[in-house]
Amino acid sequence: MAAHKIAIIPGDGIGTEVVPEGLKVLDAAGRKFGIDYEFTHFDWSCERYKDTGEFMPKDGIQQLSGHEAIFLGAVGWPGVPDHVSLWGLLIPIRREFDQYVNLRPVRLFEGVRSPLAGRKPGDIDYYVVRENCEGEYSSMGGRHNRGTEHDMAIQESVFTRRGVDRVMKFAFELAARRGKHVTSATKSNGIIHTMPFWDERFEEMKKAYPGFKTDQFHIDILTAHFVQHPDWFDVVVASNLFGDILSDLGPATTGTIAIAPSANLNPEGKHPSMFEPVHGSAPDIAGKGIANPIGQIWSGAMMLQHMGHQDAHDAILKAIETVLKDGGPKTPDLGGQASTADLGSAIAEVVASS
Ligand code: NAI
Ligand code: MG
Repeated sequence: MAAHKIAIIPGDGIGTEVVPEGLKVLDAAGRKFGIDYEFTHFDWSCERYKDTGEFMPKDGIQQLSGHEAIFLGAVGWPGVPDHVSLWGLLIPIRREFDQYVNLRPVRLFEGVRSPLAGRKPGDIDYYVVRENCEGEYSSMGGRHNRGTEHDMAIQESVFTRRGVDRVMKFAFELAARRGKHVTSATKSNGIIHTMPFWDERFEEMKKAYPGFKTDQFHIDILTAHFVQHPDWFDVVVASNLFGDILSDLGPATTGTIAIAPSANLNPEGKHPSMFEPVHGSAPDIAGKGIANPIGQIWSGAMMLQHMGHQDAHDAILKAIETVLKDGGPKTPDLGGQASTADLGSAIAEVVASS
């Protein structure tokens, strides 16, 4: 099989510390399962922005388009406003490449303590399927009368039938391979145009999947259920904003957001998909070598799965499970003293000897 062409963007802060561990584990899986890669490294980051005024070169999207996948660390650094970094790099990549699904698994592992009392592995095991190209994160709207007493801001949401249907379809197809249960996140009591539309499309989509269990909750009570009844969920489909919030809350209930991965998918494979941990650049711990690399490593596993290597994905997941369970090295967020590299190496070794 031809080598997989992968773009590597470590980004900022701990992104540059966890990406090498992700690559270590990808290499181990590559040797084990006979997978070849061709990596291209890009220094696109806040540092580059401070030096050049741009996160990526003018033809950045074009440079990435020759790759099958993008493996990203985190972007954002104090001194550069967060909306500048997000809209300078991540959002253009997600939109230009029509990565309309942001898939985020949430799972409690043995050996990791959940902040929810009495929860054990198996109680928390679901996916958040977040719409990733439209919704509340739109550039429509504006500011008027800046600096006067009539200062105002307007921000429009965009929900299209095509955009809503395709992310819901993805959620149902995912549920078909799991527990045939889909939950929709809504807020059609307060947001009276877009959210009733979202509910209508959910009703319509349900018809194509007879025998599935479906439910929907307003986002406010849904966040409470994520804490009190995480065992109720299998696949949760949500708009861009609601999905963003749910997919930080979910992983937090599994002990640490540092282990949570995400896949920005163009499911049809017309464009590259992008794989990155849920966490950011963590300026508070950057440079200390203590960041937990599991979110990055698991993102690498999702990348292999997307490229057709289910066996390699499963081996990496098993290795993460084994190291967490069997008293392997733990970084401080997991209650241990290990370094980023200790934990990455331990997982790579288990993959190599699997
Ligand atoms: P963050 O995820 O970077 O950090 C939140 C907290 O979690 C911090 O206390 C941090 O030390 C801890 N943490 C995060 N990842 C960890 C890891 N792997 N191991 C151990 N502890 C970890 O979120 P925050 O502080 O809101 O954002 C920091 C910067 O990152 C901002 O500039 C923000 O815009 C950016 N960001 C970028 C994202 C991306 O690239 N996709 C996502 C979220 C934030
Ligand atoms: Mg987020």
